[in-house]
Amino acid sequence: MEKSLQRFVLLVTLSLFCFISIPFSLSVPFVLFHGIVSGCSNDKMSNLTKLLNSYSSSPGSCVEIGNGLADSLYMPLTQQASIACEKIKQMPELSEGYNIVGVSQGNLVARGLIEFCDNAPPVFNYVSLGGPHAGLSDLPKCTFPLCKLLELYLSDVYNDFVQDHAAPSGYFKLPTKITEYLEHSKYLPKLNNERPGEKNSTYKDRFTSLHNLVLIMFEKDDVLTPKESSWFGYYPDGTYTPILPPQKTKLYTEDWIGLKTLDDAGKVNFVSVPGGHIEITEEELVKYVVPYLKNESTFSSEHEAM
Ligand SMILES: *[C@@H]1O[C@H](CO)[C@@H](O)[C@H](O)[C@H]1NC(C)=O
Ligand SMILES: *[C@@H]1O[C@H](CO)[C@@H](O)[C@H](O)[C@H]1NC(C)=O
Ligand SMILES: *[C@@H]1O[C@H](CO)[C@@H](O)[C@H](O)[C@H]1NC(C)=O
Repeated sequence: MEKSLQRFVLLVTLSLFCFISIPFSLSVPFVLFHGIVSGCSNDKMSNLTKLLNSYSSSPGSCVEIGNGLADSLYMPLTQQASIACEKIKQMPELSEGYNIVGVSQGNLVARGLIEFCDNAPPVFNYVSLGGPHAGLSDLPKCTFPLCKLLELYLSDVYNDFVQDHAAPSGYFKLPTKITEYLEHSKYLPKLNNERPGEKNSTYKDRFTSLHNLVLIMFEKDDVLTPKESSWFGYYPDGTYTPILPPQKTKLYTEDWIGLKTLDDAGKVNFVSVPGGHIEITEEELVKYVVPYLKNESTFSSEHEAM
């Protein structure tokens, strides 16, 4: 009698324990993609990953593409996105879905992953920190010795060789060279479904399936020209003025990738913070990033309650 009671109590305790631990093991993981001239082992990136881990209580990691720093400069983005796609599919912890945090150029890797990757697990929330989503019209200031070669390359940005050997060439969009851009740029025109007659609805469907899209712009950003690119704002074709807000661009009005659909559904959060490029404070992280990395269902029910 005594023995079976003990066994019963043990069983109940064990099953209770299992129930309690289930929600924790189910919390949605996130991955982070770093920017150019950076790497996952970079102090700033590992600190950011750790901060987000601890504030959200969600497991998360920085996913490295190739060797990090040098590849972030010289590996074309098509290849970077395809490596990201393969890596993500090999991470069993992401198989039920995950969230993404993109940093600067890493956002174009993230978006390539969301739009191009076949048979990939779903992405729920995507938070973009200073991403050159609509392109850049100028070279970011870079004093790093490795950048010298980049400067040389980008003087002839729509050259095939340059397109295959410099990551930023994939998102250089010179407003006065739109024809060359659409014809020869190998990355952004495809990612943004910009080429007339070549728009792929699969990319749009995948992007539109996000639960939340958070676009963070840095008011004093002196790396992205124009900084509005981080909200999908950009120059009109053919001229440098005025900078169009996202809602006035053709990408938005004609809904090339589903940005308008997402926005109409209340799923896009356009955020502006006062700092320079990727200078985000802990308070801002807690306010604008962390809520999207917490357990999905908890977040959406909180959201509905508001
Ligand atoms: C989120 O938390 C709720 C309880 O608040 C739990 O039932 C659910 O399974 C969790 N979902 C995920 C995906 O973590
Ligand atoms: C990263 O965090 C460590 C420890 O808190 C700190 O000493 C260091 O300055 C931080 N580095 C950066 C680049 O923020
Ligand atoms: C669109 O993209 C999907 C996913 O990569 C691909 O399977 C399909 O063949 C593409 N469609 C066209 C018309 O290129």
